[in-house]
Amino acid sequence: MFIKKLFLPRLPDHIIDQIYESIKYNANSWDKTDIPSEYDKFKMYNWLPANDIIQDWCKSYISPDLYWGVQVIDSDLPMHKDNGTEVKFNYLIDAGSEESKTNYYDDQGNLLDSYILAPHTWYILDVSTNHSVSNIEKERPRISLTSRIIP
Ligand SMILES: [Fe+2]
Repeated sequence: MFIKKLFLPRLPDHIIDQIYESIKYNANSWDKTDIPSEYDKFKMYNWLPANDIIQDWCKSYISPDLYWGVQVIDSDLPMHKDNGTEVKFNYLIDAGSEESKTNYYDDQGNLLDSYILAPHTWYILDVSTNHSVSNIEKERPRISLTSRIIP
């Protein structure tokens, strides 16, 4: 098993609003050119620091020992292992498609398992085993809140 559902509190609406604010804020600070959507400049994968309102909420209700970030995935993410991290908390705000899957592989690239994660649910993910994300829709980024041990 590579993914485990956790029974932790759902993010309140005002925290979800702050996540979208974090995305807009980072997008605006990276590029001043006029763009049709705040997501246009993200290249497939981006991790942005969550703001203090989100950090404080997650420290109170999820874990005081973790640092939180917003992950934005624009298109299918190829197979990889995360650098220096064994497990990650993940909370999907938008799955990027009803069909989008998190896939796990052995070191030879053979598919071992696939999962469809439900939005607004906490999971803990093994990120030290090869994994990928597939079936993300065009123009619909996959947005989640994730944990790090160190900022
Ligand atoms: Fe990853």
